[in-house]
Amino acid sequence: MKPSTDLNEALMERARRVIPGGVNSPVRAFKAVGGTPRFVKRAQGAYFWDANDQRYIDYIGSWGPMILGHGHPAVLEAVQKAATEGFSFGAPTEREVELAEEILSLVPSMEMVRLVSSGTEAGMTAIRLARGATGRSKIIKFEGCYHGHADALLVKAGSGLATFGNPTSAGVPPEVVQHTLVLEYNNLAQLEEAFALHGKEIAGLIIEPIAGNMNFVRATVEFTRRCRELCTEHGALLIYDEVMTGCRVALGSAQSVYAKHIPGFEPDITVMGKVIGGGMPLAAFGAKRTVMEHLAPLGSVYQAGTLSGNPVATACGLVTLREIKKPGFFEDLSLKTRSLVDGLKAAADAEGVPFSIDCEGGMFGFFLLPELPSNYTQVMKSDSARFNQLFHGLLDRGVYLAPALYEAGFVSAAHTDADISETVAAARDVFREMAPK
Ligand SMILES: Cc1ncc(COP(=O)(O)O)c(C=O)c1O
Repeated sequence: MKPSTDLNEALMERARRVIPGGVNSPVRAFKAVGGTPRFVKRAQGAYFWDANDQRYIDYIGSWGPMILGHGHPAVLEAVQKAATEGFSFGAPTEREVELAEEILSLVPSMEMVRLVSSGTEAGMTAIRLARGATGRSKIIKFEGCYHGHADALLVKAGSGLATFGNPTSAGVPPEVVQHTLVLEYNNLAQLEEAFALHGKEIAGLIIEPIAGNMNFVRATVEFTRRCRELCTEHGALLIYDEVMTGCRVALGSAQSVYAKHIPGFEPDITVMGKVIGGGMPLAAFGAKRTVMEHLAPLGSVYQAGTLSGNPVATACGLVTLREIKKPGFFEDLSLKTRSLVDGLKAAADAEGVPFSIDCEGGMFGFFLLPELPSNYTQVMKSDSARFNQLFHGLLDRGVYLAPALYEAGFVSAAHTDADISETVAAARDVFREMAPK
C-alpha cells in the first residue's frame, strides 16, 4: 500500500496505537462527521494550521476559551512571566485572589468562588455543594445539557417523572444516578410536575442557560423564570452551568442576559470554565457566602485539587478577563458574530437551503432546520448526513466548525471582516452543492 501523504492521517494512525480512538476527548475523533481529524501544529489569531500546514479559520477556539484569538500578545507575556516565576506551588498565591475578585466583579450573583482545573470538576462539586447545603439528595438536569462527565450527570431520562435517570455511560452504576431526574428542556409542564412530585427532596436544578451542548438552544425567559421561582419555593438551589456561556455570551455571562428580562434574576450557584482560564486548565464555581461556607475547610462539603488555582493558569485567565472588560470589547465581538450569522443565513436562503441560526455575544449555533429548535428531541431531527456535507465542504475550503451537529461555534476578537466574508462565501458554495436540484 502506498504510504499516505496526508500527515494528519499518519498522525491519526500513530495516535490510535497509543491513545483510545487516537484522541484525548471523544468529539475530536470526527466520529460523528467521518474523515480524519486535523492535528493542530500551531495557531495564531483566528487561525490554526494542521499537520499538512493547511490553514483553517477557527470557529471552535478550543471549544470556547479562546475569546481573544490564539497567541494574544498580552496573554503570552503574562503566561511567560508567570511560568518563569514557577509552575505550581500547592500553596496560595496573590494571583488566585486577584482572579477570584475579578470573576466576582463580573458575575456578582457569586460572593465567593473556588477555582478548580476543569468544568467537570466544577459541575461535580456544585452538585455536591447543593446537596451538602440543603441536606437533600435529588437533582434535576435537562436532556441535551452537558455538565461534564461526573457519574451522577451521565444520565438520560427514566420512563416517567416518578422514575429517575438511567446511566448513559458504561461504568456508571444505576444507583449513582438514581437521584438524578432528567427533564425536557423548556418543558414547563414537566418542570411543574417534577417539583410538585419531588419538591421537598430536590437539592438543586442544574441547567445550561443557553444550551451549547445542543448547538445553541436558549431556555425561554418564561422557563427560566419558573426554574427560579420553583427552586425558591421548594428550597432547592438553582445551579447555572455557565462553563460555556460564562464571559462568552456577555461580560456578565448568560445570567446577565436573563436579568434584563427578569428583574433581579440570579442563580444560587454558578459554574464557570473555558473563557475564565483563557485556554489554560481553569474553571470555578461560586455562590453566596452562606452557601460557599459549606465548603471545606470552613464546612463539611469536601473538595480539593493539587493544581487548583495554578499560577500559570490564573495569569492566563486574569489577563484574558482584563482584556474582555475593556470598553467596547463585547459590542465589537457581538457585531462580528452577528455579521457571520446574518451572512450564513443570507447564503443559505439564497440557495434555498432550510437553515436557522442564533447567536449571543461571541457564541453562535445553526441548524439545517427551518426553525430554531427548543429541546433535544427537536435538535436531533437535524439531518446528520447534510450537516456532515456542510462540515466537510467548509473544512475543504479552510473553515473549521465543530465536528458534530450538536456543538456550538465561537467567534473571537481576532476574526476579521475578511475572515467572515471568506467564511460566508465558502458556505454559499457548499449550500449551492446542497440545494435541492
Ligand atoms: C456547559 C458545560 N459544562 C461543563 C463542561 C465540562 O467542562 P470540561 O470539559 O472543562 O470538563 C462543558 C464542556 O464542554 C460544558 O460545555
